[in-house]
Amino acid sequence: MGNESSLKKELFPGEPVYGYRGAMLDVSRHFFGADAVRRLLDVMYRLRLNKFHWHFADDQGFRIALKDYPKLEEIAARRSFTDYGGFGKKEFRDNTPYAGVYTEEEVRGIVAYAAERGIEVIPELDMPGHLSAIIAAYPELSCSGEQIEVPGTFGVLENTLCIGNDNAMRFMDGLLHTLADLFSAKTFHLGFDEVLLTHLETCPKCQSKMRELGTDRVEDLKLYAKNFFRDSLKKRNIKAILYNDGMEETDASVICYHWDDRDKLREKTVQRINEGQQTIIANCGYFYMDYPYVWTPLKKSYQFNPVLEGVAKPENIIGVEAPLWTESVKSYSKLAFNTYYRLAALAEIGWFGEKRRPYDEFMKHLYENEAYFFGEKLNIPDHILNPDPSRCADMKNKWLMEDMDCEFNDAKKILPALPA
Ligand code: ACM
Ligand code: ZN
Repeated sequence: MGNESSLKKELFPGEPVYGYRGAMLDVSRHFFGADAVRRLLDVMYRLRLNKFHWHFADDQGFRIALKDYPKLEEIAARRSFTDYGGFGKKEFRDNTPYAGVYTEEEVRGIVAYAAERGIEVIPELDMPGHLSAIIAAYPELSCSGEQIEVPGTFGVLENTLCIGNDNAMRFMDGLLHTLADLFSAKTFHLGFDEVLLTHLETCPKCQSKMRELGTDRVEDLKLYAKNFFRDSLKKRNIKAILYNDGMEETDASVICYHWDDRDKLREKTVQRINEGQQTIIANCGYFYMDYPYVWTPLKKSYQFNPVLEGVAKPENIIGVEAPLWTESVKSYSKLAFNTYYRLAALAEIGWFGEKRRPYDEFMKHLYENEAYFFGEKLNIPDHILNPDPSRCADMKNKWLMEDMDCEFNDAKKILPALPA
């Protein structure tokens, strides 16, 4: 299985253009167990994707049972409801309790399974925002210290690590290193996306730390935290990755993860790349695999050029990644429907770069080889992958406002062979 003889080498001849060819799986919003993860790793292996970015910590759940942090399993891995309907709208609340966790043994097993297939597992501890589940378990980590519940609502929430509290910083640092040990990590994703600084602005401990740092900008407090954890990893030769919206200044020792293309953020990333920053391109409008095809048709993803306009030093783009956020994905069959063809497209971009074949040839090749890549033939037709724009407006609206499964449920009627 994991040995070279099971790889069809002729499908990806020569050397890849990009050394980093990744997929991300969010298991916080919805949990996918060890078997599902291995199944995804098998697909990645056959597509020569070599980085598995594991997003197991977010507001809606922390998914590893760590012996030294028992409340993570008791509290942070559970929530009492999920807003699953229109994109996170309260009127679609599902009050079924939700829980899921990997054991340390399972994590070690998956890291080894991936390594046998040439895949590096990159753990992510998303902070100092997106931290509600951990704060629910250890409320002393937040500015107010108030007890909160693990939320079943989605979006950008205000619960943040109290950066001014040295004990809270030490706790997170301990957790970070416990995880780094568990994963034997060489690279670690620290998050820093979508951080709301509201609580820090009025917190006495945060204000006091700002005075100590000689600043009246709360953004400098965030920068202090970022440098603190980056340096803590650096002491162990572990490289940090940060989301691009959380990087205020150029910092040559970290890898930039370009997801957010909005406002001036693309220009900033381009400037960083040109100044020497290693960068992964995971552009949300092209590579986010939770988006329905009416939003991001396959052809659009396939034709995306990761060398962003204005990049003068493309050698600093170390690779590409397609993330699967799972607010709207709770079954393996939807995971397969949303991701398999997109991963094949990403694999082609990552391996061949600008020399990738034209889209129609790529699709012919994909249909011919999909039973090998995916272990089964999905046969998803073009009218689903690249829907007629006249159909899209209604479906986009429906997906956003009332039913995140509308496209998938339509497709299921004609795709009986989707994996269960
Ligand atoms: C992200 O989508 N918040 C990285
Ligand atoms: Zn604080």
